[in-house]
Amino acid sequence: MHIISIADLSVDDINGILDLAEDLKKKRKDGVVTDYLKNKSLVMIFEKSSTRTRVSFEVGMTDLGGHALYLDPGTTQIGRGETIADTAKILSRYAHCIMIRAKSHYMITEMAKNATIPVINGLDDHEHPCQVLADLMTIRERKGPLKGLKLAWIGDGNNVCNSLILASAMTGMKMVAACPKGYEPDKGVIEKARSMGGDIKVLRNPKEAAKDADVLYTDVWVSMGDESEMERRYKDLRDYQINIGLVKLASKGCIVLHCLPAHRGQEITDEVINSENSAVFDEAENRLHAQKALLIKLIGNNARA
Ligand code: CP
Ligand code: NVA
Repeated sequence: MHIISIADLSVDDINGILDLAEDLKKKRKDGVVTDYLKNKSLVMIFEKSSTRTRVSFEVGMTDLGGHALYLDPGTTQIGRGETIADTAKILSRYAHCIMIRAKSHYMITEMAKNATIPVINGLDDHEHPCQVLADLMTIRERKGPLKGLKLAWIGDGNNVCNSLILASAMTGMKMVAACPKGYEPDKGVIEKARSMGGDIKVLRNPKEAAKDADVLYTDVWVSMGDESEMERRYKDLRDYQINIGLVKLASKGCIVLHCLPAHRGQEITDEVINSENSAVFDEAENRLHAQKALLIKLIGNNARA
């Protein structure tokens, strides 16, 4: 089983992962040994920068009694032109799972097509499924059952937004995305979410989106790979900021999420990120617990192909 999209998981899979993640979080706090992935190895390939994804996967494998290896394409044969297909076949002979942060969606699908071990998308230009598992866990911790909650996305309808749209549809959350013209989430993703029964709206006005929201979510205006559009993006997205004014329009006790890294003063203010509504640091921590649960599902002793 590969996790290229959050929708590669069923609703039952997601619920099971969140339950296990909660249990692992408690066990870690209590110092319980959880070496469920003893002698298992995870290969991590990063074509783009990372702090949270790299550290949470690596520490996660250590917690589970396994091992994680960091591969930089520039210092492996991938950077010298070895094909993705051959790389996938070779890595499948050594390791038990591959996690990739890729510049293109193609790199991940090609790896998955040729690997005989699970491939996990650690972010590409289309989705960020591991992030969204941690987001769901955080929302559940703070707000209880997900069904019926309203999540408002403010800003660029990017990879994180695409995964959240699918996850909202799967878990019964209503999602409204406020995006400027030209920055809407992927059309195919919206169609897929709606075909799963998702209540997904895309509009322009951040205030309208934020009204009565239980969760406010934003991400950087300039994602990795979009740097050449920086000036245009700053201009087009400048009104799409989560600030105290916007938080006041949301429901009382709403939580604010951001996958991080944040650009304080751009898509989110300092004041909001440091406020009681902010759950961004729990959210970042939950990457660790949610991914450990995902890894156990994919390569634990009871894992099924
Ligand atoms: N949120 C997230 O994926 O962070 P990193 O880019 O630091 O991995
Ligand atoms: N949308 C951002 C997320 C970073 C974790 C990016 O792709 O750079």
